[in-house]
Amino acid sequence: MRFRLLTLLVGLLMPLSLAAQDASIRQLTEPLAVDLGAAPVDDADARAATGGAQTLDDIMARQRGEKIDDEFRRSATGDPDSASAIAAQLGTLGGSSDSELLRAMRYGSADITVTSRNPAADVIMQDRGMWWLQVRQGPLATYGAYLLGGTLILLALFFLIRGRIRIDGEITGRTITRFSSFERFGHWLFAGSFLVLSATGLITLFGRTILIPLFGKDMFATLALASKWVHNNVAWAFMLGLIIVILNWTLHNIPNRHDLKWLAVGGGLFSKGVHPPARKFNAGQKMIFWGCVILGLSISASGLSLLFPFELPMFAKTFALINDIGAPGWFGLAPLPEQLAAQEEMQFAQLWHAVVAFVFMAMIFAHIYLGSIGMEGAFDAMGTGEVDEQWAREHHGLWVQEVKAKEAAAGSAAPAE
Ligand code: HEM
Repeated sequence: MRFRLLTLLVGLLMPLSLAAQDASIRQLTEPLAVDLGAAPVDDADARAATGGAQTLDDIMARQRGEKIDDEFRRSATGDPDSASAIAAQLGTLGGSSDSELLRAMRYGSADITVTSRNPAADVIMQDRGMWWLQVRQGPLATYGAYLLGGTLILLALFFLIRGRIRIDGEITGRTITRFSSFERFGHWLFAGSFLVLSATGLITLFGRTILIPLFGKDMFATLALASKWVHNNVAWAFMLGLIIVILNWTLHNIPNRHDLKWLAVGGGLFSKGVHPPARKFNAGQKMIFWGCVILGLSISASGLSLLFPFELPMFAKTFALINDIGAPGWFGLAPLPEQLAAQEEMQFAQLWHAVVAFVFMAMIFAHIYLGSIGMEGAFDAMGTGEVDEQWAREHHGLWVQEVKAKEAAAGSAAPAE
């Protein structure tokens, strides 16, 4: 009997208790659902309600890369004149609230002293990371891929329309020395290291997107680590190769009046049987040479800056120079930033390094094409160092005359036997 009464009582109370639980769960979840779901009616009110923190809308906008006016946060760093100012002696809970202190650190206005371990140590929080990451994963990767892909398509079209550039005259079978072994060593050190750096650099930039889906994360982790190690060390061979190339060939690449004639007929690249006169290097090769020198020096400088983090900042000073000559104004742009945190220097170094690398690779694609399948007889110059006289007369007629004149002079100077 007593048991039946108890069962009845539990039966009556159960719905009441469930209803109460339901109400309290709703109380807990409803404000959350409202916060996460609906956009706040008034931004300023919503921010005030968070005590100076961001709203969900602000966070989402920032993640989408949109600009938000963050003054409400930037200036919510406590009152510098009050006793609880950040600069004041910290109590158990600090001179001001943690969130105010963290905001001041983020915007670089906190009055703190750091026992410096490296040049970046006094920037405790850096606000530009998302911007850099989005540019690196977005426009940099996309336009870089378009540039390389577009260049390959153009070269394929050129090959289909023009075909291989042939030696027009009869091959003589007599050869002439085009490059010494030291010149070829310099070229292949420069070229070989460039190709290794290109491959490992592309793995670093595109690996996560392309290689992880193909080979999985573990495989990519090993490859990425190896790529980084190879890239960082082969860079030295590239710089040595660049120095040798500069020493060997700068004098031969000083522009002269023949270059204008060469350019006027497009070097004969687009029409059969046209051979403008050229000395050791023609105008097209001079453009490749100076392209290699300028891009090579620039990529080496930004590469060294990346290799020795925070030790070789160069962008703030470069931007100041560019501002001084007024260059941004020519294009209606705002002056470039002249104050950069150490981390921002690294971010600009990375972006610049990659932009230069893409332009360099596109240029070298064209060079490799012409130095191999694009032109009959060209590869021999860098392979054995000896080229057929007919090839030499067609592409470097003035240089052949110079070599022959030197040989004749040496022959006549030699004592008769
Ligand atoms: C593996 C592919 C490559 C091949 C087949 C190749 C082939 C050649 C050939 C045949 C020449 C001599 C042209 C002549 O006789 O006048 C040459 C010159 C040259 N190469 Fe390469 N090369 C390659 C990669 C590279 C790379 C990666 C670079 C630079 C990063 C480079 C930079 C140069 C420069 C600066 C010259 C002298 C200027 C010129 O002839 O354009 N080469 N190359």
